[in-house]
Amino acid sequence: MRRIAISVAATSMSVMLAGCGVLNATGSSDDASPSKGNDVTVGLLLPEKANTRYEQFDYPIFKKKVESLTDDRGKVQYANAEASADKQASQLQQMIDDKVDVIVLDAVDAHAIADGVQKAKDAGIPVIAYDRLAEGPIDAYISFDNELVGEVQGRSLLESLGDELSITKKIVMMNGSSTDPNAKQFKAGALSELKGKVTIAKSYDTKDWKPENAEANMAGAIQAIGADDIAAVYSANDGMAGGIVEALQAAGVTELPPITGQDAELAAVQRILVGQQYMSVYKSYPQEAESAAEMAVAKVQGRDIQFDALTRERVDSPTHQDIPAQLVPVVALTKDNIEDTVVADDIYTVEDICTAKYKAACSAAGLK
Ligand code: BGC
Repeated sequence: MRRIAISVAATSMSVMLAGCGVLNATGSSDDASPSKGNDVTVGLLLPEKANTRYEQFDYPIFKKKVESLTDDRGKVQYANAEASADKQASQLQQMIDDKVDVIVLDAVDAHAIADGVQKAKDAGIPVIAYDRLAEGPIDAYISFDNELVGEVQGRSLLESLGDELSITKKIVMMNGSSTDPNAKQFKAGALSELKGKVTIAKSYDTKDWKPENAEANMAGAIQAIGADDIAAVYSANDGMAGGIVEALQAAGVTELPPITGQDAELAAVQRILVGQQYMSVYKSYPQEAESAAEMAVAKVQGRDIQFDALTRERVDSPTHQDIPAQLVPVVALTKDNIEDTVVADDIYTVEDICTAKYKAACSAAGLK
C-alpha cells in the first residue's frame, strides 16, 4: 500500500519536474529516449498527396501543436512518401540516422514498414502509428474508429436509396488501397451494413487510393453493369468520389446516383451542396493531429501519466497485442450539418465553400 503511494508520488513529481524542463532523464520507460526539455525533434511520416488531407490539415495542425507544446522550440521533421512504400522506408531510415526523438508514422504499407519500425525501436526511438495501424513494435496508435467509418458510409448509402432500397439494386464498391489496414476496416464496416440489402455488382481495391485509379475502375464498372443500372456507389473516400463522378459524367450520366465519401475535402463538401455526392465522413483533423502531437511530446519528455491518459484504449495489430491507443469519434457529413461540422471546427469558412459557383446552393442549404 505504502509502496504504491510512494511510487505514485514519485511519478507525479517527475511529471512536474519534467514539465519545468528541470529533469533530464527519468529512465522511466525502457523504450523512450531520455526525457528532454522543449528542444525535441519529432519525425512525421505521411503517406501521400493525392488526397488533400495530409498537406492541408494533418501536417500543418500537427506542426503547430508541437510548436505550441514546446514553447516554439520543438521541431517537426516532415516527409511525405507520395504513395511509395520504398520511399517511406528510406524516409524512416533517414529519421533514424538523424536521431530524431520520436517518430509519428502514417504507413503507406502497414506490413512492409514493420522492419523499419523495429529498426527505430532498436535505435531507442519510439514510434507512434498515426491513422493507419503500422505493424511492428509501435508504442501507441492514434486514429478514428475505422470500422465505424465504414458502417456510417454503408448506412448512409442505404438511406440514400430510400423507398427504392431492394436487393435487386446494383451498387459499385470502390474500396481503398490493399496496403492500408484502414481500407479493410472501412470495407468490413460498410459490408456489415450492405450485405443482404443491395447487390454488390462490382467491387475494387484501389491502388494507392488514387482518384484516377478509381476513375478507371468506375469506367470498367459502367461498361460491365451499364450506367443506368448503377443505383449507388460506395466510395471509401472523397478523392475517389471525385474520380467516380468524372467517370459517370464521361459516360453521359447527368443525374448522378448517390455516392459516399470520407475526409470532408472541400471539393466534396461543394459536391454535397449541389447534390453530386450524397455524404462524406467528417473526421476531426484537429483532434487526431493535436492528440498525436501531445502523445509524441509526452513520450519524449517522459510524461508517462499524460501519455497513458492520451492512450486509454487498446488495439491489436497483426504483430502486436494490447497497443495503447486513442480512437477519435467520427460523424456523417451531409447537406444538413456542414455548418455544425467543418465550419464550426474552422476547417473551412463559409466563404471557402460558397464561391460564386455554389452561392445558390449555399443559400438553399441555409449556409451563410
Ligand atoms: C485515411 C483516409 C484517407 C485514405 C487515403 C486512409 O488511411 O484514413 O482518411 O482518405 O487513407 O489517403
